[in-house]
Amino acid sequence: MNHISIAIDGPAAAGKSTVAKRVAEILGFTYIDTGAMYRAFTVHVLNKGLDPKDEKVSCSLIPDVDIKLTSDNKVYLNGEDVTRRIREPDVNANVSYIASYKDIRLALVEQQRKMAKNDNVVMDGRDIGTYVLPDASVKIFQIASVETRAIRRYEENMQKGIPCTLEDIENDVRKRDYIDSHRDFAPLKAAPDSVLVDTSFMSVDEVVNAVLEIVKNKCGDFNA
Ligand code: DC
Repeated sequence: MNHISIAIDGPAAAGKSTVAKRVAEILGFTYIDTGAMYRAFTVHVLNKGLDPKDEKVSCSLIPDVDIKLTSDNKVYLNGEDVTRRIREPDVNANVSYIASYKDIRLALVEQQRKMAKNDNVVMDGRDIGTYVLPDASVKIFQIASVETRAIRRYEENMQKGIPCTLEDIENDVRKRDYIDSHRDFAPLKAAPDSVLVDTSFMSVDEVVNAVLEIVKNKCGDFNA
């Protein structure tokens, strides 16, 4: 049986995970947050007291890292729940380095492809439509202005009690945009066959409805 896969790519804090989670819930699909996997890897490097900017040292840890995403959207690193830890500022500041290393990407992409093989999925990330699932049934490229994204991430952090300033968040978003889109291997870019959704002036409900409409146009009306 052919499974349906919906790829949602775009820059940091464009609201991909909120939308992807809601779309997956509505369609009864499995949500896969690939960014969480790069984040969990980063936590492992930091836990070991090593420098995530050091590619060789970071890649040497690949065999030691076991990452699991659960159906209730929890993230486990070697059996430990790191769901909250992966959103902390030191992880934000370092994850783009880890995500730029080819060997780490190859290891995590292999796992991501396996997850999409046996299930209908909504997968979000940076390279899903271009590299991880080039034959995805639907490809969305979700964007918003840097300012909008920084405010959204700031408000999210405040709600979760994660201390930060708007200025730091904006700098972090700009820095990650740059690193994610300038790396050599599978950089952030829109797949030629993706549909662009600019969410700068849209509510979450509007974006979710727009994505559901795109899915309906591509895949027809179906009940999962
Ligand atoms: O979506 P996010 O902010 O949780 O992603 C964390 C980092 O991981 C981000 O800097 C880009 C990187 N990433 C990636 O390179 N490829 C993916 N498929 C997902 C995330």
